[in-house]
Amino acid sequence: MKRSTLELLCCPNCQSALSLRDERGDGTVDEGDLFCPYCERSFLIRNGIAHFISPQELEGLNRRFARFYDWFSHFAIFNKVFFLSMGGERKARTEILDRLDLNGGRILEVSIGSGDNLPYLFESPTAGEVYGLDISAAQLARCRSFVTTRGWSVDLFLAMAEVLPFKAESFDSVFHIGGINFFSEKKKAIDEMIRVARPGSKIVIADESERVARLIARTLGFSRSCQGKKVDTSVPVHLVSDTMEEIRVDGIWKRHGQYHGYCLEFRKPA
Ligand SMILES: C[S@@+](CC[C@H](N)C(=O)[O-])C[C@H]1O[C@@H](n2cnc3c(N)ncnc32)[C@H](O)[C@@H]1O
Repeated sequence: MKRSTLELLCCPNCQSALSLRDERGDGTVDEGDLFCPYCERSFLIRNGIAHFISPQELEGLNRRFARFYDWFSHFAIFNKVFFLSMGGERKARTEILDRLDLNGGRILEVSIGSGDNLPYLFESPTAGEVYGLDISAAQLARCRSFVTTRGWSVDLFLAMAEVLPFKAESFDSVFHIGGINFFSEKKKAIDEMIRVARPGSKIVIADESERVARLIARTLGFSRSCQGKKVDTSVPVHLVSDTMEEIRVDGIWKRHGQYHGYCLEFRKPA
Protein backbone atom coordinates (compact mmCIF):
# COMPACT_ATOMS: atom_id res chain seq x y z
CA MET A 1 0.00 0.00 0.00
CA LYS A 2 1.26 3.45 -0.82
CA ARG A 3 1.86 5.58 2.25
CA SER A 4 -0.18 8.40 0.74
CA THR A 5 -3.23 6.07 0.60
CA LEU A 6 -3.66 6.57 4.34
CA GLU A 7 -5.20 9.97 3.49
CA LEU A 8 -8.08 8.20 1.68
CA LEU A 9 -8.84 5.60 4.33
CA CYS A 10 -11.36 5.78 7.14
CA CYS A 11 -12.72 3.40 9.73
CA PRO A 12 -15.47 1.29 8.12
CA ASN A 13 -17.47 1.44 11.40
CA CYS A 14 -17.40 5.13 12.27
CA GLN A 15 -15.64 6.76 9.30
CA SER A 16 -12.98 8.37 11.54
CA ALA A 17 -9.50 8.93 10.11
CA LEU A 18 -7.08 6.08 10.79
CA SER A 19 -3.52 6.24 12.01
CA LEU A 20 -0.74 3.91 10.94
CA ARG A 21 1.26 2.00 13.54
CA ASP A 22 4.14 -0.48 13.43
CA GLU A 23 4.68 0.22 9.78
CA ARG A 24 7.18 -1.87 7.82
CA GLY A 25 8.07 -1.84 4.16
CA ASP A 26 10.49 -0.43 1.69
CA GLY A 27 8.89 2.73 0.27
CA THR A 28 5.40 1.21 0.54
CA VAL A 29 3.59 -0.10 3.62
CA ASP A 30 3.83 -3.91 3.47
CA GLU A 31 3.02 -4.67 7.09
CA GLY A 32 1.44 -2.61 9.83
CA ASP A 33 -1.64 -1.73 11.72
CA LEU A 34 -4.35 0.87 10.95
CA PHE A 35 -5.83 2.17 14.17
CA CYS A 36 -9.17 3.92 14.71
CA PRO A 37 -8.80 6.17 17.76
CA TYR A 38 -12.58 6.46 18.10
CA CYS A 39 -13.64 2.75 17.99
CA GLU A 40 -10.23 1.64 19.22
CA ARG A 41 -10.30 -1.07 16.53
CA SER A 42 -7.26 -1.93 14.52
CA PHE A 43 -7.02 -3.32 11.02
CA LEU A 44 -3.99 -5.32 9.93
CA ILE A 45 -1.94 -4.69 6.82
CA ARG A 46 -0.38 -7.94 5.60
CA ASN A 47 1.58 -8.33 2.35
CA GLY A 48 0.54 -4.79 1.45
CA ILE A 49 -3.20 -5.58 1.75
CA ALA A 50 -5.23 -3.76 4.43
CA HIS A 51 -7.74 -6.14 6.05
CA PHE A 52 -11.01 -4.43 7.03
CA ILE A 53 -13.04 -7.63 7.51
CA SER A 54 -12.48 -11.08 8.88
CA PRO A 55 -14.29 -14.09 7.37
CA GLN A 56 -15.99 -14.87 10.72
CA GLU A 57 -17.89 -11.59 10.79
CA LEU A 58 -19.45 -12.00 7.33
CA GLU A 59 -23.12 -12.91 7.12
CA GLY A 60 -25.71 -14.12 4.61
CA LEU A 61 -24.74 -14.12 0.93
CA ASN A 62 -21.45 -12.35 1.64
CA ARG A 63 -20.32 -15.21 3.87
CA ARG A 64 -21.33 -17.74 1.24
CA PHE A 65 -19.69 -15.89 -1.64
CA ALA A 66 -16.45 -15.00 0.18
CA ARG A 67 -15.99 -18.75 0.72
CA PHE A 68 -17.05 -19.57 -2.83
CA TYR A 69 -14.59 -17.06 -4.36
CA ASP A 70 -11.75 -18.23 -2.10
CA TRP A 71 -12.27 -21.63 -3.74
CA PHE A 72 -13.08 -20.27 -7.20
CA SER A 73 -9.84 -18.24 -7.33
CA HIS A 74 -8.15 -21.52 -8.44
CA PHE A 75 -10.41 -21.72 -11.49
CA ALA A 76 -9.94 -18.27 -13.03
CA ILE A 77 -10.03 -19.92 -16.44
CA PHE A 78 -13.84 -20.13 -16.03
CA ASN A 79 -14.21 -16.35 -16.63
CA LYS A 80 -12.12 -16.60 -19.78
CA VAL A 81 -14.26 -19.46 -21.09
CA PHE A 82 -17.46 -17.54 -20.22
CA PHE A 83 -16.24 -14.48 -22.15
CA LEU A 84 -14.89 -16.54 -25.04
CA SER A 85 -18.44 -17.40 -25.96
CA MET A 86 -19.27 -13.67 -25.90
CA GLY A 87 -16.64 -12.61 -28.44
CA GLY A 88 -13.64 -12.76 -26.12
CA GLU A 89 -12.54 -11.24 -22.85
CA ARG A 90 -11.18 -8.02 -24.34
CA LYS A 91 -14.48 -7.20 -26.05
CA ALA A 92 -16.53 -8.18 -22.99
CA ARG A 93 -14.49 -6.07 -20.59
CA THR A 94 -13.84 -3.01 -22.76
CA GLU A 95 -17.58 -2.86 -23.52
CA ILE A 96 -17.90 -1.80 -19.88
CA LEU A 97 -14.57 -0.06 -19.16
CA ASP A 98 -14.93 2.27 -22.18
CA ARG A 99 -17.85 3.91 -20.36
CA LEU A 100 -15.60 5.23 -17.58
CA ASP A 101 -14.44 8.84 -17.80
CA LEU A 102 -10.74 8.22 -17.17
CA ASN A 103 -8.98 11.53 -16.68
CA GLY A 104 -5.80 10.57 -14.87
CA GLY A 105 -7.61 10.58 -11.52
CA ARG A 106 -8.14 7.88 -8.93
CA ILE A 107 -10.07 4.78 -10.02
CA LEU A 108 -11.75 2.37 -7.59
CA GLU A 109 -12.75 -1.14 -8.65
CA VAL A 110 -15.22 -2.58 -6.16
CA SER A 111 -14.77 -6.41 -6.20
CA ILE A 112 -11.52 -6.42 -8.16
CA GLY A 113 -11.25 -10.23 -7.98
CA SER A 114 -7.96 -11.47 -9.38
CA GLY A 115 -7.46 -8.23 -11.33
CA ASP A 116 -8.65 -9.27 -14.78
CA ASN A 117 -9.80 -5.75 -15.70
CA LEU A 118 -6.41 -4.21 -14.94
CA PRO A 119 -4.65 -4.95 -18.28
CA TYR A 120 -7.42 -3.06 -20.11
CA LEU A 121 -7.41 -0.16 -17.63
CA PHE A 122 -3.64 0.25 -17.82
CA GLU A 123 -3.77 0.30 -21.64
CA SER A 124 -5.46 3.68 -21.38
CA PRO A 125 -3.06 6.63 -21.26
CA THR A 126 -5.64 8.41 -19.08
CA ALA A 127 -5.80 5.74 -16.35
CA GLY A 128 -4.61 7.23 -13.07
CA GLU A 129 -4.02 5.55 -9.72
CA VAL A 130 -5.94 2.30 -9.31
CA TYR A 131 -7.41 0.95 -6.06
CA GLY A 132 -9.29 -2.32 -5.63
CA LEU A 133 -11.14 -4.16 -2.91
CA ASP A 134 -12.68 -7.57 -2.59
CA ILE A 135 -14.36 -9.74 0.01
CA SER A 136 -12.23 -12.79 -0.90
CA ALA A 137 -8.70 -12.98 0.53
CA ALA A 138 -7.70 -15.63 -2.04
CA GLN A 139 -8.85 -13.48 -4.98
CA LEU A 140 -6.85 -10.54 -3.58
CA ALA A 141 -3.75 -12.70 -3.10
CA ARG A 142 -3.94 -13.67 -6.79
CA CYS A 143 -4.48 -10.05 -7.73
CA ARG A 144 -1.49 -8.96 -5.69
CA SER A 145 0.81 -11.48 -7.34
CA PHE A 146 -0.54 -10.45 -10.78
CA VAL A 147 0.09 -6.72 -10.21
CA THR A 148 3.51 -7.42 -8.67
CA THR A 149 4.52 -9.47 -11.73
CA ARG A 150 3.36 -6.69 -14.05
CA GLY A 151 4.99 -3.96 -11.94
CA TRP A 152 1.69 -2.05 -11.53
CA SER A 153 1.00 0.03 -8.48
CA VAL A 154 -2.48 -0.99 -7.31
CA ASP A 155 -3.52 -0.71 -3.66
CA LEU A 156 -5.70 -3.61 -2.48
CA PHE A 157 -8.11 -3.93 0.44
CA LEU A 158 -9.98 -6.84 1.97
CA ALA A 159 -13.36 -5.21 2.52
CA MET A 160 -17.07 -5.44 1.78
CA ALA A 161 -18.69 -3.41 -0.98
CA GLU A 162 -21.43 -2.55 1.51
CA VAL A 163 -19.04 -0.81 3.94
CA LEU A 164 -16.20 0.88 2.11
CA PRO A 165 -13.17 1.93 4.17
CA PHE A 166 -12.70 5.17 2.21
CA LYS A 167 -13.47 8.80 2.96
CA ALA A 168 -16.29 10.45 1.01
CA GLU A 169 -15.48 11.85 -2.45
CA SER A 170 -12.11 10.10 -2.74
CA PHE A 171 -12.36 8.68 -6.31
CA ASP A 172 -12.78 10.13 -9.80
CA SER A 173 -14.20 6.88 -11.24
CA VAL A 174 -15.86 3.97 -9.47
CA PHE A 175 -16.81 0.72 -11.16
CA HIS A 176 -17.93 -2.80 -10.40
CA ILE A 177 -18.18 -5.89 -12.61
CA GLY A 178 -19.62 -9.30 -11.90
CA GLY A 179 -20.57 -9.65 -8.22
CA ILE A 180 -23.47 -7.40 -7.29
CA ASN A 181 -26.21 -9.88 -8.28
CA PHE A 182 -25.28 -11.86 -5.18
CA PHE A 183 -24.22 -9.11 -2.74
CA SER A 184 -25.91 -9.29 0.66
CA GLU A 185 -27.05 -5.64 0.49
CA LYS A 186 -27.06 -4.18 -3.02
CA LYS A 187 -28.60 -0.81 -2.11
CA LYS A 188 -26.00 -0.25 0.59
CA ALA A 189 -23.20 -1.13 -1.87
CA ILE A 190 -24.54 1.30 -4.50
CA ASP A 191 -24.91 4.07 -1.88
CA GLU A 192 -21.31 3.43 -0.81
CA MET A 193 -20.03 3.68 -4.41
CA ILE A 194 -21.85 7.03 -4.62
CA ARG A 195 -20.47 8.24 -1.29
CA VAL A 196 -16.82 7.62 -2.20
CA ALA A 197 -17.15 9.05 -5.74
CA ARG A 198 -16.24 12.68 -6.36
CA PRO A 199 -19.11 14.98 -7.42
CA GLY A 200 -19.39 14.90 -11.21
CA SER A 201 -17.86 11.44 -11.55
CA LYS A 202 -19.21 8.42 -13.39
CA ILE A 203 -20.19 5.16 -11.66
CA VAL A 204 -20.46 2.00 -13.78
CA ILE A 205 -21.94 -1.30 -12.56
CA ALA A 206 -22.23 -4.45 -14.68
CA ASP A 207 -23.25 -8.04 -14.08
CA GLU A 208 -24.90 -11.03 -15.73
CA SER A 209 -28.51 -10.75 -16.83
CA GLU A 210 -31.15 -12.25 -14.58
CA ARG A 211 -31.49 -15.24 -16.93
CA VAL A 212 -27.72 -15.96 -16.88
CA ALA A 213 -27.53 -15.44 -13.09
CA ARG A 214 -30.27 -18.06 -12.73
CA LEU A 215 -28.39 -20.44 -15.04
CA ILE A 216 -25.07 -19.95 -13.18
CA ALA A 217 -26.79 -20.47 -9.81
CA ARG A 218 -28.32 -23.71 -11.11
CA THR A 219 -25.04 -24.94 -12.69
CA LEU A 220 -22.96 -24.23 -9.60
CA GLY A 221 -25.65 -25.49 -7.24
CA PHE A 222 -26.26 -22.16 -5.41
CA SER A 223 -29.55 -21.80 -3.69
CA ARG A 224 -31.27 -18.65 -4.98
CA SER A 225 -32.61 -17.86 -1.55
CA CYS A 226 -30.82 -16.75 1.58
CA GLN A 227 -32.09 -16.41 5.14
CA GLY A 228 -35.60 -17.21 3.92
CA LYS A 229 -35.58 -14.53 1.20
CA LYS A 230 -35.40 -15.01 -2.56
CA VAL A 231 -32.29 -13.37 -4.05
CA ASP A 232 -33.26 -10.59 -6.45
CA THR A 233 -30.94 -10.62 -9.48
CA SER A 234 -32.81 -8.01 -11.52
CA VAL A 235 -30.93 -4.93 -12.79
CA PRO A 236 -30.55 -2.83 -9.61
CA VAL A 237 -31.51 0.46 -11.31
CA HIS A 238 -34.40 0.89 -8.83
CA LEU A 239 -31.79 1.05 -6.05
CA VAL A 240 -29.98 4.08 -7.52
CA SER A 241 -30.90 7.30 -5.77
CA ASP A 242 -33.01 9.49 -8.05
CA THR A 243 -30.68 12.40 -7.28
CA MET A 244 -28.17 10.75 -9.67
CA GLU A 245 -27.91 12.05 -13.23
CA GLU A 246 -27.62 10.43 -16.68
CA ILE A 247 -28.92 7.09 -15.36
CA ARG A 248 -28.96 4.47 -18.12
CA VAL A 249 -29.05 0.71 -18.49
CA ASP A 250 -27.81 -1.17 -21.55
CA GLY A 251 -27.72 -4.82 -22.47
CA ILE A 252 -24.14 -6.09 -22.87
CA TRP A 253 -22.41 -9.36 -23.80
CA LYS A 254 -24.64 -10.09 -26.79
CA ARG A 255 -24.64 -13.59 -28.24
CA HIS A 256 -27.12 -15.20 -30.62
CA GLY A 257 -29.21 -12.03 -30.46
CA GLN A 258 -29.52 -12.11 -26.65
CA TYR A 259 -27.83 -9.95 -24.05
CA HIS A 260 -26.11 -11.98 -21.34
CA GLY A 261 -25.37 -9.02 -19.09
CA TYR A 262 -26.39 -5.49 -18.20
CA CYS A 263 -24.45 -2.29 -17.64
CA LEU A 264 -25.92 0.33 -15.35
CA GLU A 265 -24.21 3.72 -15.38
CA PHE A 266 -24.91 7.11 -13.85
CA ARG A 267 -23.20 10.31 -12.81
CA LYS A 268 -23.00 11.81 -9.33
CA PRO A 269 -24.19 15.43 -9.57
CA ALA A 270 -21.34 17.96 -9.71
C1 LIG B 1 -17.15 -12.72 -10.89
S1 LIG B 1 -15.95 -12.02 -9.81
C2 LIG B 1 -15.53 -10.56 -10.73
C3 LIG B 1 -14.15 -10.05 -10.45
C4 LIG B 1 -13.73 -8.85 -11.30
N1 LIG B 1 -14.53 -7.69 -11.01
C5 LIG B 1 -13.79 -9.17 -12.77
O1 LIG B 1 -14.47 -8.43 -13.50
O2 LIG B 1 -13.14 -10.14 -13.19
C6 LIG B 1 -16.94 -11.35 -8.48
C7 LIG B 1 -16.12 -10.82 -7.32
O3 LIG B 1 -17.00 -10.17 -6.39
C8 LIG B 1 -16.46 -10.40 -5.09
N2 LIG B 1 -17.52 -10.12 -4.11
C9 LIG B 1 -18.64 -10.85 -3.89
N3 LIG B 1 -19.38 -10.25 -2.93
C10 LIG B 1 -18.71 -9.13 -2.53
C11 LIG B 1 -18.98 -8.09 -1.58
N4 LIG B 1 -20.08 -8.09 -0.84
N5 LIG B 1 -18.06 -7.10 -1.45
C12 LIG B 1 -16.93 -7.09 -2.20
N6 LIG B 1 -16.64 -8.04 -3.12
C13 LIG B 1 -17.52 -9.05 -3.29
C14 LIG B 1 -16.01 -11.84 -5.15
O4 LIG B 1 -15.10 -12.19 -4.13
C15 LIG B 1 -15.39 -11.90 -6.56
O5 LIG B 1 -14.01 -11.63 -6.54
